[in-house]
Order: sequence, then structure tokens, then C-alpha cells
Amino acid sequence: MADIGTLLRDRLAAAFETVTGSTVDPVLRRSQRADFQANGALALKDRSVAAEVVAAAGLGDLCSRVEVAGPGYINLTVADETLNRMLAATAADERLGVSTVEPETVLVDYSGPNVAKEMHVGHLRSTVIGDAAARVLEFLGHRVIRQNHIGDWGTNFGMLVEHHVEGGVIDERNLSAFYAGARERFTEDDGFRDRARRRAVALQDGDPETVALWRSFVGISRRYLTGVYDQLGVRLRDEDIAGESDYVGALDGIVAELQAKGLLHDSDGALCAFPEGFNGPLIVRKSDGGYGYAATDLAALKYRCRTLGATRLLYVVGAPQRQHLEMVFAVGRAAGWLVPPARAQHVSFGSVLGLDGRMLRSRTGRAVQLAELLDEAISRARAPEIAMGALKYADLSTDRNKDYVYDPQRMLAFTGDTGPYVQYANVRARSILAKAGGDGPRREFAVAGPVDHALAVELLGFPGVVAQAGETLELHRLAGYLHDLAAAFTTFFERAPVLRGQEREGRLALCELTSRTLRTGLDLLGIQAPDRM
Ligand code: ARG
Repeated sequence: MADIGTLLRDRLAAAFETVTGSTVDPVLRRSQRADFQANGALALKDRSVAAEVVAAAGLGDLCSRVEVAGPGYINLTVADETLNRMLAATAADERLGVSTVEPETVLVDYSGPNVAKEMHVGHLRSTVIGDAAARVLEFLGHRVIRQNHIGDWGTNFGMLVEHHVEGGVIDERNLSAFYAGARERFTEDDGFRDRARRRAVALQDGDPETVALWRSFVGISRRYLTGVYDQLGVRLRDEDIAGESDYVGALDGIVAELQAKGLLHDSDGALCAFPEGFNGPLIVRKSDGGYGYAATDLAALKYRCRTLGATRLLYVVGAPQRQHLEMVFAVGRAAGWLVPPARAQHVSFGSVLGLDGRMLRSRTGRAVQLAELLDEAISRARAPEIAMGALKYADLSTDRNKDYVYDPQRMLAFTGDTGPYVQYANVRARSILAKAGGDGPRREFAVAGPVDHALAVELLGFPGVVAQAGETLELHRLAGYLHDLAAAFTTFFERAPVLRGQEREGRLALCELTSRTLRTGLDLLGIQAPDRM
């Protein structure tokens, strides 16, 4: 089922082709003056083209009004009968008009906290953005593989395991305190330092007792993570964890293969790749023989392409890791693992700032614990689903490439561009439907007047927005759409008498479709839609 924007765009594109003999993008936009505006004729600097296009497009069956204005804008008002017909088709469709796409195996690498270190707000962003992306892609019909690339390996773990063995107390909600305790002992106590180093070697060599201790230590962190994901309503399960430790056994083979392909060079004892187009090296094996973050990522890339069969790989990771990831992708291509049409993309995001415009810090000046942040939101909100919705919406409604300011007061408000505002529009729709009684589905639409009309046009925009979000992963456009829909509904709700008016059935149908669209859209963002607030 085509959405209204696509229908109009296709018609206009064909007309532009007839008139000009070449391909012209109609540049269709929503408009203040009419429902839509097509600006494609502007670039041609010939107002008469616009008039000819209008004549050639023959939009009489879809629009009630088509006008050329100014230097060649085409203003389009959709006919109410068209809206009623399309609304009925949308309401009859379980998927609300969103078509499924040619399915691909899409791998989404997100969250990726480091189990023994501070889980910072950047991990929260990755978790929220990645989960929404995965939901949208799944809804569009892709086979989505979620991968949580946790940092659970490295020399630090020798120290941590030793601290654990020697009585260091682990507070699951505050793992960084444990980390800090281990660090302190490591710097101050020579004996401990030696034992920690021996522990690291034992872990590396697979000493069964040490490995068992490491496993229990990582297990505690994983339980904590599962708790956070549950609280957030994020669909990351234990099976989605593929930590750095899972690739340890593959690293020698990865190096051997890259060496055989002539992709590694010795640099002061370290083995480095120098992918084309980058200045520095990608250090694959350190001079002490140890493997780092890059080696693991290369092993993961090969596994994801070859074993999991992913053809679209999305890495939801903060902006500072851009160079690292691009280099890993480049080496993966050179090695023949990442082969077109398979492609990898860094789904980058900016930082979370405090109200002072600087990196978010807690009152004591250290980085903010994730748990603290969630607890704060929950204590300020009326219900957990409102708190989590607010938090996620605040993150997802800004262009992910930009930094955003964490402002609990603003994000929890019932007015403005907030999660609770969108949730509340749905609550209003539900309450009116409950009052009306008589279970849906309601499929008889009878758009009556400008307020109904505006809401109807908004409703029909959903399929286009979801399809676009799946391609660009610009989730803020989906959030923005839901906000606009909530706003159109709020206006409708306040101005149009629903239950008492003549148009009762048609308006109840609008309420029902609005609620379904808001719920589906919020669900795609990972946000709950409570019936009451
Ligand atoms: N653990 C990393 C960090 O905290 C993020 C992992 C991202 N994914 C990856 N495949 N490198 O920075």
C-alpha cells in the first residue's frame, strides 16, 4: 500500500518528466499553507513549468486543490475523500500501511559496556539508539542479529580477579567502586601488585581456577547488566552477548591470515595494518605480544560476515571511535571478509551534556553512574514507564550526531517535545475510546473540517517515516513525527467534539487509528504506551 506522500511524489515525478523531458525530483514537503508543497520547479527557474506540471499530473482524483504560487511552488491539498479511503485502508492493515522490505541479515552492535569499568552515559546512548534501530529494522522485515560486544577481557582482569579473591566486595550497582578499590590496592601494595600480575598471566594461560574466578566475576557484571536492560525495557538478552573474551581463541588465526595476505607490517615489534586513506597504523598485535581492542574487532568482523552471514553491519558507538571503526572496516574489506554488497556502518552519536553544557558529571564531579541516572528519573516521574520513556525520548528525539543536554525536568514535562507528551496523547485517545464503549475496529472515516483533515494527513505519514528511519537510522525523525502526530491529535481533541458531535463514528475512528499509530511508533523507539498516566 502506497502512502500519500509516495503517491503524490510519483505522479509529480512522472509529470515533470513529461514536461521537461528529464528526471526532476519534485521535492515534496509538508507545508503550512496546504498539506504538501512541491518545490521541484524552483531549481528550473521557470514558473511556467510548474503550471504545466500541474496540468500534466492530473491530480484531480487525489487533491481538492492544486495551486502554483510564488516563483513556482506547487501547493497541494488532499481531498477529504482521498483521506477517508486511505485511512480506511490503513486501519484495515495490521502494519498500518508500512510495507515490508527485501529482507537482509542486519547485525546491530550496541550497548557494549566494559564490565569492570564505569558504565557511562555513552553506553546508555548506544543502548537506547541501538535498541530502537533494531526494532525498526525488525519491523521492516529484516533478520536482525543483536550483538552486545562487552569488554570482558584484558590485563585489568588479573587485578580484578585477585581483588575479588582477596575479599574485595562487589556492589552490583556500583562496579566502578570495586574497580577503584582494586586500582588503589594495585598502586599502594607491592605484594598485591605481584599477585595481580601473576593472576593476569594465569588468566591468559587458561589456568582453570583463575578462569573460573574470572567467569564468576564477569557473571556478576552480566547479571547487573541484565537488570539494567530489564529496567530500560531493552531487548538485549544473555544470548546476544558476544564479549571480547569470546574472540580470544581466534586472534592468532586472524593475525596469521592477515599476515599471509600481506596486510601486516612490523613496527618496532608491533604488528600493524596501514589501511589506505588513513594516517596512522591500526595496531593488531602489540610489541609485548598482547592483543588489543583492534584485534578483537577484526575477529568479530570476520565472524559476523562469515559465520553469522550479516550483510549490513551497524556499529552503534560514540563519535570518538570513528577512526578506529573505519580502519577496522577497511582492513576487513582488504582481507576479503567484508565483501560488497555487505557493508558496515558506524552509527555514530554525540555526547550527553549536563545543564552547564559540559560533559555530564555527578555532584561529586565524577562521571555519572548509569544506575544513578535511572534512579533519578524514576524518582521524579509518576511511574517507571514514564521515566524510561522520557529518558529514551530525550535521547532519540535529537539528531544522534549532536550532543544533547540531559535535563530531567524538561524531559519529564507533559508539554513540549517530550516522551510524556506523546504518551499522554495516547492516554487521551484511549480514554475517549473507553468512554465511547463498543469495541473497535473502527474503519469508517468521515473527515469533517480542518482539524480532522490535519490529523488525517499526519496519520497517513507514518509508513514513509518508518521506511526512512530504517534506511537512514535518523530516529529523531520518527520521534519528531510522533510529536507532530500527538500535537495534531491534541488540537483535534481540544477543538472537535468527538462523543457528542454528528461526526462521532468518523472521529472515534480517528482516535483509534491515532492510538494505534502512537503505540506502534513508540514501541519502535522502545517506549511503552501506558493506558493511564
Ligand atoms: N566496549 C566499547 C567501549 O566501551 C564499545 C564496544 C563497541 N563495539 C565494538 N565492536 N567495538 O568503548
